[in-house]
Amino acid sequence: MIPSFFARSQLLSKPPTVCVIAGDDAAPEVMRPTIEILRVLAPDINFVKALSGREAQEQYGNAFPDDTREKIDAADCTIFGASGGPSRAVLWYLRWDKETFVNVRPVKWYSGYRSPMLHPERIDYIIIRDNLEGMYPPREGDISELSVLNSSKTWWKAPPVEKCGSYAVRICTDEQVHRLAVSACEIALHRQSIGYAGIVTLGAKFSILPRTDGRFRGIVKDTVHTYPGLEYQEFLIDDLARRLIADPETLDVVVLSNEHGDILADVASGSIGGLGLSPSACYGERYAYFEPVHGSAPDLVGKGIINPTAMLLSGAMMLAYLGYDEQSKQLERAIERTYSAGVSLTFDQGGKASTLEFTEAVIESILKKL
Ligand code: NAD
Ligand code: IPM
Ligand code: MN
Repeated sequence: MIPSFFARSQLLSKPPTVCVIAGDDAAPEVMRPTIEILRVLAPDINFVKALSGREAQEQYGNAFPDDTREKIDAADCTIFGASGGPSRAVLWYLRWDKETFVNVRPVKWYSGYRSPMLHPERIDYIIIRDNLEGMYPPREGDISELSVLNSSKTWWKAPPVEKCGSYAVRICTDEQVHRLAVSACEIALHRQSIGYAGIVTLGAKFSILPRTDGRFRGIVKDTVHTYPGLEYQEFLIDDLARRLIADPETLDVVVLSNEHGDILADVASGSIGGLGLSPSACYGERYAYFEPVHGSAPDLVGKGIINPTAMLLSGAMMLAYLGYDEQSKQLERAIERTYSAGVSLTFDQGGKASTLEFTEAVIESILKKL
């Protein structure tokens, strides 16, 4: 699952330090079992807990206290649950201050995942999402400000200033798209070396947004063409959305803008069996952090039934990043075995197990290599 391109273990401290930020709502309920399992697999890793959101507000009078920023900065990487609002400043810091420019979201069905698809065994690709630009972070304003854009160079007219409304700005810079595309190509090359097709697929609305999505497309296309062993294919984003469901076997590495990647990662997650199963990792040149695709699942708080698989697989991606390749594979295999046994699964996967029972089954599988 893990591209060697991002394994920067040679630059990291040994043993490494990981900053643990559980986040909001039900996110701590997936973080707790994950750290427990990571400790079983790699007892030498130094896990340092940092507070955010409500807990931090209570203890420090600030949802993102200096103590948390210092712990993030001092660690080799961070493992993050999810923000349900109160921890947003931490998420912002991990993405934009730490410049974790690429969000890697593997989409792979394992036997036992409760997929709604007829042939889910066809699903095994990776979404490479721009983590810094596009529509996020928000740059919004009042439409009256757009009147300055009216000129003979634009074919469109800004809305009359007397109308009430808002706009949002979409950003696409050459530097960001190029490094995103290079990451996608390196991941595709790595996958090719272990038997995958070596295809980079671009999805964007280049027909309608030539200046932003057209630019995005051009840079990705040109970059892939500098890798003679790789194949390039492109689809308009709406057609690509259909292909995620209709022809997932044609996909290997899929490059998407920030908001398209955000939305389609949830669609892809639905195709394998739900958000409880989808991991992710955010890498930059100076830092990396690991979080599931899902959010803080406020509807599940305190029920003890949330599925920790997505968080655990994000932990497996982190182990690989830290140079613990064998432990990363061990964790992935233990999860695979737990699903194929099918006896200790959580409610979202059609089972009756609690988070704790599922966690115990994974630990048992690690220890006994069942
Ligand atoms: P969500 O991902 O939290 O939940 C969507 C649905 O999936 C819910 O029904 C939830 O119960 C289910 N689900 C999510 N994780 C699950 C798991 N591990 N096991 C079983 N079921 C699971 O998305 P939402 O409800 O749209 O958003 C809730 C909050 O999370 C919002 O504040 C949103 O902004 C935030 N969010 C944060 C992040 C992040 O921090 N990276 C990501 C996505 C959403
Ligand atoms: C995600 C989330 C976030 C995003 C939000 C909470 C900013 O939906 O990580 O997928 O869109 O990146
Ligand atoms: Mn999302």
